[in-house]
Amino acid sequence: MSNPAVPFPPEDELYSNAWAKDIFKDKVVFCTGGAGTICSGQVRALVSLGANAAILGRREANTKAVAAEIAKVRPGSKVIGFGCDVRDYNALVSTVEATVKELGKIDFLICGAAGNFLSTIEGLSSNAFKTVIDIDLLGSYNTVKACLPELRKTKGRIIFVSATFHYTGTALQAHVGAAKAGIDALSHTLALELGPAGITSNIIAPGAIANTEGMERLAPKNMIPDDMRKNPAKLNPLGRWGTVSEVADSTIFLFSDAGRYVNGITLVVDGGSWRNSNSIANFLYPTIFQPGAENFDFMTTKGAKKQNGSKL
Ligand code: HXC
Repeated sequence: MSNPAVPFPPEDELYSNAWAKDIFKDKVVFCTGGAGTICSGQVRALVSLGANAAILGRREANTKAVAAEIAKVRPGSKVIGFGCDVRDYNALVSTVEATVKELGKIDFLICGAAGNFLSTIEGLSSNAFKTVIDIDLLGSYNTVKACLPELRKTKGRIIFVSATFHYTGTALQAHVGAAKAGIDALSHTLALELGPAGITSNIIAPGAIANTEGMERLAPKNMIPDDMRKNPAKLNPLGRWGTVSEVADSTIFLFSDAGRYVNGITLVVDGGSWRNSNSIANFLYPTIFQPGAENFDFMTTKGAKKQNGSKL
């Protein structure tokens, strides 16, 4: 994406035409990872349908710029961007306070902050593993804890953005699979503990979503042959990658009146792909692990670091 302030694909639709305008009038959404492609798409759809929003990201200037872009979807909307690292519980508490001061309350929580990169277990340091667990799992816990007093007041709803990597196991994703499995367990418990307070907790597990940072990082060009990239029919039952708007539609459903009795579920939005075991890092499996493939370079994505001593 050339302009980091506009992470969502401009050509993508917001959501399907199934939803009535203003269904989220006067609702407030609080979203971590809100400057990323998928979560900004979720928030933009909710704002379009009447909500106001606070989005959180580690890069404050970028997050504020994305918030300003999201606000354009509905004149009169309020969308605030906060610089906040979900690993810092006290910073989250302060951001919740600032949100309530500005927007009055929190109805919907999206825990979407996530870290990811491809790595073999040899290439993964203890700190690298911990970093992803801290961002994804501990960060989700921190966010829920910080928001919980507000969610109790509104009988709010929680969505965790997870993945499908851990359903079958995914090569090069030990750290992320472990973190997402933990997030799923956290959500299931919250559905039971918070349901009696009128709060629902659900998971959205996106598959391969086109034009996202996740796809750029996890499906680098040298891992997916060009013809498959252009025509993923063999990789996905529906024959295509997903769109940000399709994740947004699922989000709208879970937060809308239509989702009021849905609690403790995982809504997989991947076209049925995980049932075919075609997870992203497995496109060239097991080729890249076989003798002779030692020089295969899957680490071409932004932020990738050389893995000394890594054996593919
Ligand atoms: C091996 C790596 C690495 C890599 C970082 N590390 N990148 N190890 N391979 N490619 C190691 C570092 O060497 C260090 O360990 C440790 O991780 C922490 O690195 P830092 O750079 O200090 O950490 P930090 O800046 O806090 O975060 C790093 C990061 C983050 C986790 C990589 O920048 C990140 O993930 N950004 C991407 C965000 C993103 O794309 N989110 C969307 C994910 S999509 P040492 O031992 O050296 O100290 C998603 C869903 C996909 O997850 C679903 C699709 C199907």
